[in-house]
Amino acid sequence: DEFPQPNAAPVSNNPGKFWLVNTDAGINALYKVCTHLGCIFPWSEAARIFACPCHGSQFKLDGTYIAGPAPRDLDRFEFRVLDANGNVIAASTDGQPIPMPSGAESVVVNTGRKILGKSHF
Ligand code: FES
Repeated sequence: DEFPQPNAAPVSNNPGKFWLVNTDAGINALYKVCTHLGCIFPWSEAARIFACPCHGSQFKLDGTYIAGPAPRDLDRFEFRVLDANGNVIAASTDGQPIPMPSGAESVVVNTGRKILGKSHF
């Protein structure tokens, strides 16, 4: 229901276990489970990063790995953007962000279709 503004704090969805993020590259749905050993991690508005409390992995707003023991970027989900009539006006099926289209009314995230973050090893 609520879209984050570009580069603003991500919007949390607890039932779906994802963060809706919006960066210069567009919107994306990031899985809330750390790619290290599976802890749920918060957003730190002070540091402007996702910071995992378990072993210190850090990620940028777009899910890119910064530091710590996590082996890859944050995982993400397939999603569709709908207009007010429920028509699909944009979709991401490969884990990449997409620019927020005009007329966007809602985002439907398919939490059954997880795309692994890019490995940095
Ligand atoms: Fe997140 Fe280990 S589970 S750093």
